[in-house]
Amino acid sequence: MAAKAAKGATDGERPEEAYDATPFLPEAERRTSGNAGLRALREAASGCRGCPLHENATQTVFGTGDAHARVFLVGEQPGDQEDRKGAPFVGPAGRMLDRALDEVGIDPAQTYVTNAVKHFKWAHEEGRGKRRIHKPPTLREMTACGPWLAAELALTEPEVLVVLGATAGKALFGSSFRVTKERGSCTEREVHGRTELVVPTIHPSAILRADDQDEVYGGFLADLRVAARVLE
Ligand code: URA
Repeated sequence: MAAKAAKGATDGERPEEAYDATPFLPEAERRTSGNAGLRALREAASGCRGCPLHENATQTVFGTGDAHARVFLVGEQPGDQEDRKGAPFVGPAGRMLDRALDEVGIDPAQTYVTNAVKHFKWAHEEGRGKRRIHKPPTLREMTACGPWLAAELALTEPEVLVVLGATAGKALFGSSFRVTKERGSCTEREVHGRTELVVPTIHPSAILRADDQDEVYGGFLADLRVAARVLE
């Protein structure tokens, strides 16, 4: 799995503008480590204007968890509730994730949870009132936001990277990433001289959308158990 950005739709993009979070990150030589380093990153990310998604979002939703967490979980982007509360996975998908982590024995204190894209992308549903409907991020938006994800990974140096769904996989490994093919596997990757294990699985919201939720949830648990075993 090569580390490059995915191809995707170009929904709502502005071709004339450069999309890139890099100018908003603290300079590499000024970055500190540990939780202080994470706090500094989070604060810098709160002012990110690296792409137009900040314009419609309430706030930047940065990752949460300890800098020394052993497991790093990455989803797609904040949803409606995450946008309002300012924390990742605090809505229905987050409750599904919490339940599954508990069931496979992954301690939340050992996790760092974040998203590939740090702002909620949404539109009003045509003719159906004021509900804000999530829209998937484009390649350019994912690529623009990539430096935040890379900085979070570099700082936390997790043992296990759990990739939640296709968007996170494509943001990390490129457009050839297929969650259906990769899920439940455990692949070593070398990053800056250290080894990290990558365990892809489905996005927890896929369970909420499924006709047979029990079966899809069972598959999610099986994938997460691969990560849990590494931690034993
Ligand atoms: N879906 C995601 O991918 N991330 C969240 O934080 C919430 C829902």
